[in-house]
Amino acid sequence: MLKALILLLLVGCAHKVHIVTPVEPFSRKQYEAESKNHMVTSQGEATTKATLEILKSGGNIIDAFVTASFMISVERPQSTGIGGGGFLLLYKKNENKVYAFDFREMAPVLSRKNMFLSKNGTPQSLLSQVGPLAIATPGLVAGLFEIHQKWGKLAWSELLAPAINLARVGFPNYPHLHLAINDRKHVLASDPDAKRIFFKDGDAPLTLGELIIQEDLARTLELIAEHGKDGFYKGQVAKSIIKTVRSKRGILTEKDLRDYKVKERVPVSSIYKGLKIFSMPPPSSGGVHVIQILKMLENYNLKKMGPQSVGAVHLTAQSMQRAFLDRATYLGDPDFSEVPVGKLLDPAYLHKLSEQINTEKAIKAVDLNLVPLPKESTETTHFSIADSEGNLVASTQTINGWFGSGVIAKGTGIILNNEMDDFAQKVGALNLFSAVGGEKNLVEPKKRPLSSMSPTIILKNESPYMALGSPSGTRIITCVAQTILNAVEFEMPLFESVAATRIHQQWQPDKLKIESPFLNQKVESELKLKGHDVVHEKLGCSIQAIQKTKNGWIGVSDPRGEGLALGN
Ligand code: GLY
Repeated sequence: MLKALILLLLVGCAHKVHIVTPVEPFSRKQYEAESKNHMVTSQGEATTKATLEILKSGGNIIDAFVTASFMISVERPQSTGIGGGGFLLLYKKNENKVYAFDFREMAPVLSRKNMFLSKNGTPQSLLSQVGPLAIATPGLVAGLFEIHQKWGKLAWSELLAPAINLARVGFPNYPHLHLAINDRKHVLASDPDAKRIFFKDGDAPLTLGELIIQEDLARTLELIAEHGKDGFYKGQVAKSIIKTVRSKRGILTEKDLRDYKVKERVPVSSIYKGLKIFSMPPPSSGGVHVIQILKMLENYNLKKMGPQSVGAVHLTAQSMQRAFLDRATYLGDPDFSEVPVGKLLDPAYLHKLSEQINTEKAIKAVDLNLVPLPKESTETTHFSIADSEGNLVASTQTINGWFGSGVIAKGTGIILNNEMDDFAQKVGALNLFSAVGGEKNLVEPKKRPLSSMSPTIILKNESPYMALGSPSGTRIITCVAQTILNAVEFEMPLFESVAATRIHQQWQPDKLKIESPFLNQKVESELKLKGHDVVHEKLGCSIQAIQKTKNGWIGVSDPRGEGLALGN
């Protein structure tokens, strides 16, 4: 009872911000940091500390990004790893330019449109989620290596040293990892290499506080430290990946690994309330829909309604619902079919979408209509870094579901992703996050599956203002949009912007999901009267955000998790 009352804490009194949050009262001290020079926020304590050390010892923001990526791969093996992929948004202060890099996994050459359908056309989601067919060609190591070649300062091998050490020495099992191991224990138990890492004496899952040691992974990282990306995509590691996958009747080939390509993309961007927002373009849907949601809401005076008021929650949910209809209709890999990004972000188009919203009643998903486009125009992880020169990094990385496909390449410690599940098995089929699959996201050889990852950078008056992102599939989009809304529209301090109770609406299933315990009984009753099908659900987001202050930076690691914000 006491806990429930604490959970309903109203925070931010000092700033006259009254919001409901599911977060414990002591968390501000633990998850918020201020600094003059550098700032790092990540979902891992060891990751944040090692990354800050790189910056303090003269490394630049790219060096910090590389160390953070390898460290978090070791520290959150349930969420990300060198068997996966991701995206980077980078703001380079000296050029006043935001870059976007795509090192997302690619479908193997032997993949086929109907590979996850039974003979009668029924989607077989187990096949795209567990085991060898779920694996797409990993892109993480290629991405880190090529970006480091372009702009890194310290030696590559130096940047991997902390991750090699962490894998070898180990770290205590923590609550989220413990939960993930137990959730996936049947999959992990069927792989001898996984069993050796995550089970005690090979029998029972490791308990909280017991050491997670990844000796094989330490040796693989040493090979990558010595040989660069070839240490992963060629030689004994590549052979082991292919041998393991093939022995389980998978389709990944050595050529898939050799041919993997990192892509530089043009970030999506828009002006919102005078700020310049940059985010990840397709093959992520994240940036397009974060911007769509914010721009639809710009037409209403949410501030006057107040944060977490019936009016503000209703309009936010309806904007999310509208954005997700476009996601299912238009988004996919831009290398395979045209994604009309310009049209989807056209201010006049977004104005029309916001006019579709009924301010009194929730529209049923089936009644929502597409608006003609203008003629022209679970796991995952995120970290954000800022340095003393004003450069920013926002990077989201993943192996998709907890422990990805559950397949470990024998003797390497590499947990291979299940990113093939982010494709549509057929039009209308649902993925792990219940997102509806569209025509443009059907499986094709060498295609990249549609993502929701939304690493985002915001500039104010041509200067860095914010870097943020989150894990959690389709919820990433709505969590990132709400954090920006809280900070910009409702002028909340960064901690409250991150801590406030969140909602999620993704068109299908047509539910208004609200974090537990609840927003406010009265608000929820009124939302139901407006026609929202309200359910309580953990949303799984873990926002890692950094904001510019007068004196330097403020960093917040989402108090829902076990991350750390630290600066100097
Ligand atoms: N695998 C989750 C995403 O890319 O959105």
